[in-house]
Amino acid sequence: MIGLKTADVEKGSLELQQQFGITWIVVTLAEKGCYYRLAGHDGYVPGFQVEAIDTTGAGDAFLGCLLYKILKAGVSLNQLTKQQIIGMLTFANAGGALVTTRKGALQSMPTTDEITQIIETNKQHDDDRFRPGFHFSPHSHWLNDPNGLVYYEGVYHLFYQHHPYSNQWGPMHWGHAVSQDLVHWEHMPIALFPDEHGAIFSGCCVVDWNNSSGLFDGSHGMIALFTHADSCPETGQPRQRQSLAYSSDKGRTWHKYEGNPILDEHDLVDFRDPKVFWHSPSECWIMALVAGDHVRFYRSDNLREWSLSGQFGKSEGSHDGVWECPDLFELPIDDSGCSKWVLIISIGDNPNCPEGSRTQYFIGEFDGNTFINDNPADHILWLDYGRDNYAGVTWSDIAEQDGRRVIIGWMSNWKYANQTPTGAWRGAMTLPRILSLTSRDEGVVLTQMPVREIEQLRKGTLCWNEVKVTPAVPFTQKMNDVLLEIEADIDIRSGDEVHIKMKSSGQSETIIGYDPVRQWLFIDRSKSGLTDFHPSFGCKHGARMVPENGKIKLHIWLDRNAVEVYANEGLVALTDQIFPDAPMDRIEISAKTGEVVLNSFHMHALNSIHIPNGPTEQASRRVEV
Ligand code: FRU
Repeated sequence: MIGLKTADVEKGSLELQQQFGITWIVVTLAEKGCYYRLAGHDGYVPGFQVEAIDTTGAGDAFLGCLLYKILKAGVSLNQLTKQQIIGMLTFANAGGALVTTRKGALQSMPTTDEITQIIETNKQHDDDRFRPGFHFSPHSHWLNDPNGLVYYEGVYHLFYQHHPYSNQWGPMHWGHAVSQDLVHWEHMPIALFPDEHGAIFSGCCVVDWNNSSGLFDGSHGMIALFTHADSCPETGQPRQRQSLAYSSDKGRTWHKYEGNPILDEHDLVDFRDPKVFWHSPSECWIMALVAGDHVRFYRSDNLREWSLSGQFGKSEGSHDGVWECPDLFELPIDDSGCSKWVLIISIGDNPNCPEGSRTQYFIGEFDGNTFINDNPADHILWLDYGRDNYAGVTWSDIAEQDGRRVIIGWMSNWKYANQTPTGAWRGAMTLPRILSLTSRDEGVVLTQMPVREIEQLRKGTLCWNEVKVTPAVPFTQKMNDVLLEIEADIDIRSGDEVHIKMKSSGQSETIIGYDPVRQWLFIDRSKSGLTDFHPSFGCKHGARMVPENGKIKLHIWLDRNAVEVYANEGLVALTDQIFPDAPMDRIEISAKTGEVVLNSFHMHALNSIHIPNGPTEQASRRVEV
């Protein structure tokens, strides 16, 4: 290797490469691993945590291992893919690390089996590096949309789109988890498996209290309504039809209805994600279903036979992507005694939109047959201005005395969901949030805040009041915990941009910022850690937010894999995944010019939730494909 005159490896290696035309430069960084630079790209490859007793021979072992791998690959350096390079350097890092665990040089050289073993063990650890501390994630493999959210007999059910054999999207099943407080979950056996009608796409659950389906022998039980996805045998075209399953034992075992599918529209290719509720004024069940570029409403007396009653949306709202996962419910507006209907529509990814998949909502009326928008057709309302809150729907059957409308979303984005660097599991949910309506100058809008039950995770709080922050004197604080809840009331005064930077012990930083000139709240995750798995991931994005009396109020939840930001009592929400290179260990608040004052700044360290496996027996009557 070559001695560098600068401590900045990125700059130094670039200069060396430009000056001498070196194809591949590697800088070893002891226990931190190494840095490499090739013609087209560069990067850090993390090292291995070992108990070093003698570092003699570590550099030689590193180089020996690397040369061994290069010779074994048998191609010229320019032809190596990034993945191959990272694989080789990981092998070399492991070889170098193992040598330090024994005394001496030559005799301490590990075998290739020993190297492979430490890499495998480390992978396991890596898989857990981004495992959320307090967001719901699957035990293993793939998760997307929340499904079948229902509260029944003291238990919140969370079903979800799940591929149990891969960490990529594939034949969909319904995974299942239960909770008594929306915070601590227990994994349950898979609820619905693909069958002769196809895979199990998104849908909902309701409690059939009065046995209107006739499936519960005079009692009550749970009904799941979902989309069966397969292809048409004659044409081979994708086909989506709606089906029903029922459970008489509180969601433990499920029976698919023999009359499936129960709703089919031959001419519609995209026809999915039923959401059903009981409409008291007309005493009937209503189903909202998306059909590509609009939502359809169907009515039923028995949850099995449905007739079309109305359609909405062909020329309303955003059509940047296919419409998915509808939800429709009524909410009071503040304490006014009045209420409005909220229609939630997720819209799929569009390669031309950097935002990827996201969720819009409409405010208006539901007359029992269809939805009527209060706003002009081109008035678009977004649920979340971050990049990772999709396919959110609300719990059904939460008791009237409780009265909350609670939503949970899939914390990812179809733009890169299949590539996030989490390992053997992939996908997590947002925090469950209460939705409310408030009346503002611009009209009636939704606000959202995590459910209060989340407060039980607080294990210790640090508080500051009236702290002045200037460009010369930022506020910095070491964080001893990686799971945090932060409440900040900030007087922006004469300040320019305020940055709340969350920094890792490595190179990563995630910035939550406010620009008072543009009145813009943003997250900048361009340097948040692993970002290069997709070109759209490393970005800065945000929302317009007007300060209230010169102040902004932020409530932030920081997890190992995500940050959720709520501003001004949930008027604006930003939810983003992040994958820091090392645990976050510092927070820094800075002002670009002038002065800002932290009127109050509270930092709560949070406990982690552990999600145990519930009973292991699988649901009966399943058909595997
Ligand atoms: C939304 C969605 C749904 C569909 C499901 C398939 O993310 O595309 O429309 O039912 O995912 O997994």
